Amino acid sequence: MSDSQLWDDVDAYFTDHLAPDDEALRAALRENEAAGLPHIAVTAAQGKFLQLLAEVQGARHILEIGTLGGYSTIWMARALPEDGRLISLEYNARHAEVATRNIARAGLDRIAEVRVGPALESLPKLADENPAPFDLVFIDADKANNAHYVEWALRLTRTGSLIVLDNVVRGGRVLDAGSTEPDIVGTRAAIELIASHPRLSGTAIQTVGSKGYDGFAVARVLD
Ligand SMILES: C[S@@+](CC[C@H](N)C(=O)[O-])C[C@H]1O[C@@H](n2cnc3c(N)ncnc32)[C@H](O)[C@@H]1O
Repeated sequence: MSDSQLWDDVDAYFTDHLAPDDEALRAALRENEAAGLPHIAVTAAQGKFLQLLAEVQGARHILEIGTLGGYSTIWMARALPEDGRLISLEYNARHAEVATRNIARAGLDRIAEVRVGPALESLPKLADENPAPFDLVFIDADKANNAHYVEWALRLTRTGSLIVLDNVVRGGRVLDAGSTEPDIVGTRAAIELIASHPRLSGTAIQTVGSKGYDGFAVARVLD
């Protein structure tokens, strides 16, 4: 059996037992597929992990950067109380449309909202609204801007908030200090920012699974 087949099978085992889907999650993936969205949503196990992080945080406010079809949005929004709020930023209007429908079908449209535009334009507008600090920020958009997104996350959070970045391993390419690939440069800049910032304490975890070999970084905002 190949490594990737084994990772798939183990992921399926954990997902069946620990992160079973339901009609709203299945429908979201079906709609993503029908609309031709790329297969780059988090896995169910990862979605459940994000949901657990939101619950551990006692989150009332969540910011997501990179919505796609709203699959991770649904997992996280389900951790919020009825008066909670999730804002998800998405560059691509078609992705945002699919996500908005998926979120409504999941019954979460009063909690979760998708804002269309480049996140680096949406973030200053959001800051101008003086929103309540976000308890959890999930960064999963264009990796080239990862360090900028971490900086924005710091401005929009509070002591004790959690910042999660997806896809920080990229099959091991994160090791390439000489890379000129924007995703790698941006991810390395974010890791170095987390390492050196006095208000951040973080780590990164390598993962394998149905989405291959990758990983995520998690950072806690300090006083
Ligand atoms: C990996 S996907 C997000 C997956 C989603 N979080 C999930 O797990 O279901 C990345 C998304 O970020 C969006 N994106 C790329 N560049 C962006 C930008 N500058 N601002 C906002 N969104 C962006 C892409 O259009 C894409 O839909």
